Amino acid sequence: MRLDKMLSECGIASRKESARAARAGQITVNGMPVRNADAKVDPERDAVIFCGRPVQYRKYVYFLLNKPDGYVSATEDGKDPVVTELFPEEYRKMGIFPCGRLDKHTLGLMLITNDGALSHRLLAPKSHVAKSYRFCVKFPISEEDVKELESGVDIGGYLTKPCQVRLDEEKSGVITIIEGKYHQIKLMMEAVHNQITYLERISFGPLILDESLSRGEWRELSKEEIQALQEH
Ligand code: URA
Repeated sequence: MRLDKMLSECGIASRKESARAARAGQITVNGMPVRNADAKVDPERDAVIFCGRPVQYRKYVYFLLNKPDGYVSATEDGKDPVVTELFPEEYRKMGIFPCGRLDKHTLGLMLITNDGALSHRLLAPKSHVAKSYRFCVKFPISEEDVKELESGVDIGGYLTKPCQVRLDEEKSGVITIIEGKYHQIKLMMEAVHNQITYLERISFGPLILDESLSRGEWRELSKEEIQALQEH
């Protein structure tokens, strides 16, 4: 692979910046300065140092974000802050985006990656990826409501698939769905004449919200978590 391609894929430098740094002798490969940014390197084996900084080649990156309130699940928005703003420029340059959407006021687990194929697979309706949400509602939920929600309710002409609801108290609990229609949980609660007052995603497929992350914080996924997602 070309050195400048490797550096741009890692979000370290554009091709122009790489060419400039190479000419200035600021890039070394295996300890030797490389003056041409189009030199061939083996990204897995060669030790590349850019302006004194070792470069770890990764085409894809995977992060678990604890989404804070008020952020839009997008890479840009004319009005509100977006979840990718919570990441350093280096990762934004690598093309990270949120896998799926949470509403602006929904909190919790989001997978952020630049792996389009994986994201596409996980979001495909036939993948049936389970997502659990902690919720609070305005009015007490009856056993009848739970049965209705679990067997499927009509949200704007669409009948939701069977899901699981576990009540913790009369106005709060955890709901697990295997699909992801727009505003699904909000609309499901409205279908049983209730109203969401708090919504937090606590799991997405094999990923569990890391309670040690405060709102707005993120961490890289472990190898095991990435593998579990890929095998899903
Ligand atoms: N369902 C909703 O209504 N909102 C979300 O953010 C996620 C699921």
